[in-house]
Amino acid sequence: MPYFSFHHSEPTRKKTVPAEFFTTLVHKMKVLVATEKPFAKVAVDGIREVVEAAGYELALLEKYTDKQQLLNAVADADAIIIRSDIIDETVLNAAKQLKIVVRAGAGYDNIDLNAATKHNVVAMNTPGQNSNAVAELALGLMVYAVRNLYNGTSGTELKGKKLGIHAFGNVGRNVARIAQGFGMEVFAYDAYCPDEAMIAAAVTPVHSAADLYKNCNIVSLHIPATDETKNSINHDLVNLMPKGGILVNTARKEVIDEEGLISLMQERPDLKYMTDIMPAADTKFRTLFEGRYFATPKKMGAQTAEANINAGIAAAKQIVDFFVNGNTRFQVNK
Ligand code: 3PG
Repeated sequence: MPYFSFHHSEPTRKKTVPAEFFTTLVHKMKVLVATEKPFAKVAVDGIREVVEAAGYELALLEKYTDKQQLLNAVADADAIIIRSDIIDETVLNAAKQLKIVVRAGAGYDNIDLNAATKHNVVAMNTPGQNSNAVAELALGLMVYAVRNLYNGTSGTELKGKKLGIHAFGNVGRNVARIAQGFGMEVFAYDAYCPDEAMIAAAVTPVHSAADLYKNCNIVSLHIPATDETKNSINHDLVNLMPKGGILVNTARKEVIDEEGLISLMQERPDLKYMTDIMPAADTKFRTLFEGRYFATPKKMGAQTAEANINAGIAAAKQIVDFFVNGNTRFQVNK
């Protein structure tokens, strides 16, 4: 049932009733952008334009440092736009007016979907909107790795190397496209993607994770963090990689069995791990694997003006479309 926002004709009223009485009855929808890691300003301007054109109010909570700030900000929000911000039961309990939360991005493992459903809150993501940005960063990490972290020594090239894409979704497809430009030979494994989609993108389908790792010089992770994938990138799987293997992670830290990877990298000094999501054991990785481990200080994959504009404005438009037309196309807690 759509939440129509107040374009009704003005009710007939007696002269004795002050006009303010009616305006207090008219609820103006409030859309909160709650981003611990803020969007580029140009994206926030675009979101504001969409929200205000619909007659709603925009509120901003950026770079917050404490959960209480989020709990206060959500109290009167009808809709929230987030990034990797955690929306759990506590937040939902505090968000008494909330009808919809949109994750401006792909992964929605930061939203407690069951709690959202319980609170009658629609949860959505904006698939594909930031995938080129993440894919470009993945290739950047690959170049950084084969050039020995730009330490001045002679490295190798990506051209002619075999790249394994672990999960062929929006980001995986963009990684394939860019890697082909580098002259890489591209393989992909994705249990949920038909071979035809890979073949159409000139990518060779592989039918098990083991075969992907066995065959490829570089593996790029694009799996979501789910019960099935958490800790699945473990010692034995990565150990299948040929000598000089490079593992690139722009997906989620939870998919890595960190202790397993640490013990493998101790056994195999030829392996490198490049990640856009700092592991819980970052200090250990940094201390033990200098020159063959790199983690960005903050997840940077989707941190471009273009990705912020695409995902942020898509989120704002999805909120308006939901309130005006009841559109739930991108709902993830059905
Ligand atoms: C995503 O799931 O869309 C990416 O991991 C980007 O996350 P971010 O918006 O927190 O940078």
